Amino acid sequence: MRVLLTGSSGWLGRYLAPLLSQNGHRVVGVDVVPGTHTQIVGTVADRALVDRTMADHGIEAIIHGGALHKPDIVRYPRQAFIDVNVTGTLNLIEAAVAAGNDRFLFTSTTSLMVRADVRAGAGDAGAWWMDEDFGPLEPRNIYGITKLAAEQACRLVHREHGINVAILRTGRFFPEDDDTHAVPSGPNLKANELLHRRLTVEDAAAAHLAALEAAPTICCDTFILSAPPPFGREDAAELARDAPAVIARYFPDAARLYAHAGWVLPDRIERVYDPSRAERRFGWRARTDFGSVLTALAKGGPLPIAHDPAYTSPIVAQEREACTS
Ligand SMILES: NC(=O)c1ccc[n+]([C@@H]2O[C@H](COP(=O)([O-])OP(=O)(O)OC[C@H]3O[C@@H](n4cnc5c(N)ncnc54)[C@H](O)[C@@H]3O)[C@@H](O)[C@H]2O)c1
Repeated sequence: MRVLLTGSSGWLGRYLAPLLSQNGHRVVGVDVVPGTHTQIVGTVADRALVDRTMADHGIEAIIHGGALHKPDIVRYPRQAFIDVNVTGTLNLIEAAVAAGNDRFLFTSTTSLMVRADVRAGAGDAGAWWMDEDFGPLEPRNIYGITKLAAEQACRLVHREHGINVAILRTGRFFPEDDDTHAVPSGPNLKANELLHRRLTVEDAAAAHLAALEAAPTICCDTFILSAPPPFGREDAAELARDAPAVIARYFPDAARLYAHAGWVLPDRIERVYDPSRAERRFGWRARTDFGSVLTALAKGGPLPIAHDPAYTSPIVAQEREACTS
């Protein structure tokens, strides 16, 4: 298919664009920042640019990964989030309908499910179990608010025009350190998060490819993307009290391998994202999980998770360059 990929200069884009090409798709990348996989430099908030790109390249499907996201909150006013994340999404899906496309993929975020009470930690029932039916939704910042509004806009256009829509609520896959300065940090934190709230960027890209190909059978649905947690709902209470005890049941070697690496297991796990609907409905399951990390630790081989504390999003890198030149 001829696929328009937004955010093609970003972290996801640099994995997803080549993966799409390797699988026979012709990719046209759109991003506000130039990049190897970006043919059109411009903003999705510009409807004329979107329409021109659709027509010039005979686009048959859109994957909308471009966005202002959480690290951008400190740099951009709220209105910019509305322009890019809401208006931009509406521009794209309306252009997709006008072009007669039968499918539209929207990269959303699990972050919009994190209400103040979820963020505050596990309740009496134990760790929050987060699947696509979790609600009511009350995003806590402008990033989540605009992603949720964009999801709703996609659903509205699906209802009115029938275009198939896959909303991919993606867990963490960024390579930099957590901006909340969490302890532990670095690869130790990323490995811990694979238990319940993270996936690799390669798996995120693979999920987008699988959803693109399955979209005509999806109709309109929302999917959590995260590495498969080893736990079941019955573990929720104990996870919030004593996560190492639960982890030891599923991975008896974990404590020893972690100690050898100088790492620490999480004391408590307060929310778990459940990606099983994506597996049921379009056959995607993350290849890399917590067990993959333990295997790498046991073998002394390279870790299967990208970690780059120096990573900055393309917009920030461009702004820094402009300031120093
Ligand atoms: N990184 C994560 O951990 C994570 C987690 C959940 C969801 N997501 C979502 O995944 C998607 C990709 O994120 P990423 O990690 O690759 O981020 P990124 O910042 O590396 O890439 C986002 C890209 O979008 C581009 N962009 C920004 N405004 C644009 C505009 N107006 N028009 C066109 N392009 C624009 C940026 O220049 C950038 O290249 C985003 O939608 C993000 O919300 C990311």
